[in-house]
Amino acid sequence: MTKQSKEELERQLAYLEKAKTLVAAKKEELGRNLKACVVTFGCQMNAKDSEKLSGILEEAGFELTESEEADFVIYNTCTVRDNANQHVYGRLGVLNGLKKKNPGMKIALCGCMMQEPSVIEKIKKSYRFVDLVFGTHNLYRFPEYLCQVMEADGMIIDIWKETDRIVEDLPSSRKYSFKSGVNIMFGCNNFCTYCIVPYVRGRERSREPKEIIREMEELAANGVKEVMLLGQNVNSYGKNLDEPFTFAQLLTEAEKVEGIERIRFMTPHPKDFSEDVLEVIASSKKICKHIHMPLQSGSTQILKKMNRRYTKEQYLDLALHIREVLPDAAITTDIIVGFPGETDADVDDTIDVVKKVHFDNAFTFIYSPRTGTPAAAMEQVEEADAHRNFDRLLKVVQEEARGRVKLLQDKILPVLVEEINDSQEGFVTGRLENNTLVHFPGDPSLVGTIVNVQLSDYQGFYYIGRQV
Ligand code: 5AD
Ligand code: SF4
Repeated sequence: MTKQSKEELERQLAYLEKAKTLVAAKKEELGRNLKACVVTFGCQMNAKDSEKLSGILEEAGFELTESEEADFVIYNTCTVRDNANQHVYGRLGVLNGLKKKNPGMKIALCGCMMQEPSVIEKIKKSYRFVDLVFGTHNLYRFPEYLCQVMEADGMIIDIWKETDRIVEDLPSSRKYSFKSGVNIMFGCNNFCTYCIVPYVRGRERSREPKEIIREMEELAANGVKEVMLLGQNVNSYGKNLDEPFTFAQLLTEAEKVEGIERIRFMTPHPKDFSEDVLEVIASSKKICKHIHMPLQSGSTQILKKMNRRYTKEQYLDLALHIREVLPDAAITTDIIVGFPGETDADVDDTIDVVKKVHFDNAFTFIYSPRTGTPAAAMEQVEEADAHRNFDRLLKVVQEEARGRVKLLQDKILPVLVEEINDSQEGFVTGRLENNTLVHFPGDPSLVGTIVNVQLSDYQGFYYIGRQV
C-alpha cells in the first residue's frame, strides 16, 4: 500500500471509532438496537463491495438485517442494463413510505448507477428523502460519510470521476463463512461499445500480488474454503503494476495458500486468454474447471461493432482448444441479443457458436442502450425482433446446457455444500467444481464442507444426488 493509502486507511479507521460513539449514543437515546440493511444489485464485484459496507456498519455497532424496515438502509446499485436502474427507482418509492413511519431512518445510495450524472440529477430533484449518495471510487470513505450522515440532516452527495487509490484493510463482513470474493483488480480499459462499466468503474488498477495472497491467507485462517478472484478482465491482471505480474503467476501463487481448496475467477476476456493460464489451470488441483468466458455475439461483424477485438472463428478456436486442454471443464458465457444492426443472420451465427461450443450455461441479455456509450448512438433494432431472436437463442442455450449437465449422470464428484435446501426438508444444496448445482439429503452441519456425492437423478439443469 502506498503512504497515501495508509494515511487514508488511518483516517477512515478514526472515523469508524467516531461512528461507534455516535451509534452507541443513538442506541442509548432510543433504548434499543440500531438496525442496518445493505441491499445489493448487480455483479460479484458489487457483492464484495457490500461485504465491505456491511463490515463497516457492523463494526460501528449496527445490527445487520435483511429487512428494509431499518434505521440505515443502503442500496449498492448496478447500471449495466436499464432495468437495474428502474428497479432501484421503484424500490426507493417503497423506502420513502418506510421512512415516513420511522423519520430517523437514513437512506444511502452507492455503486455504479451513482456514477451517472443524469441519475444524480434525478435523485436531487425527485428523491429528496435520500440522505447520502456516493460512487464506486470513494467507497472506502464510507466511515467518514456515515459520521456525517448521523450528525446532520440534509442530502450529502460525493461522487468522484476517478481514483488511482486502492485502500486496503477496512473491515468486511462475509455473507458466507466458507467462500469469499477477492478483488484482484478494479475498473476496465476495454470500452466495448455497449458497456457502461469503464465509465462507472474507471481505468484498470491491479492490487499488489502480496496483498491478494495475504487476504487469501487470512480468509483461509478464518475457515474460507473457496475464493473467487474478481476483476472485469482478469487476463490483463498485473500489467499496470510497478513490477508487472501476470494472471498465470497470480494463480500459481494462489494455489499455494493452504486451507483454500477451490479457486475460481471471473471474468476473463477471450481476446487476452493466454496459454500459460490454461496450463496453470490444467495442472492445478484447486483451480475450478469452470471458465466463464463472455461471447456477447457469434457474428464477426457485430463483434467488430461491439469492439470486442476477436472474430467468431477466433472465439470458436479458443473455446474448442479449452475443451481439448480441459475436457472436464464447464464453459459458460454471456450473450447479448438485439445489439444495434443485428440481423437474424447474425443471431444464426451466435446460435452456431452455442451449438459448436456446447456451453454448459449462458446468461442471455437483451441489449439495453446506456447513455454515453457509442452503441447508444447507433441505429437500434426493433424490440419485437430482439425478443423473437432472444427466444430462439434461449431455446438452443437450454438444450445445450441440459445436454452438458446430463453427461455427469451417476458420477461421484466432490460438492461444496453451500446451504440448507429451503424447498425440500432434510436436503442441502451445493456446487460441483464446474458450478453445477446438486441437492442431496444431508445434515445442516455439512454446510461449508466438501463431500463426495453420487449424481443419481438428472433434473435438467441440476442433480439430485446422494452422499457416498
Ligand atoms: N445491454 C445488455 N447487456 C449488457 N451487458 C453489458 N452491457 C450490456 C448492455 N448495455 C451484459 C454483457 C456482460 C454482462 C455482465 O452484462 O453480456 O458480459
Ligand atoms: Fe457490476 Fe457492471 Fe453492474 Fe457495476 S454496472 S454492478 S460493475 S455489472
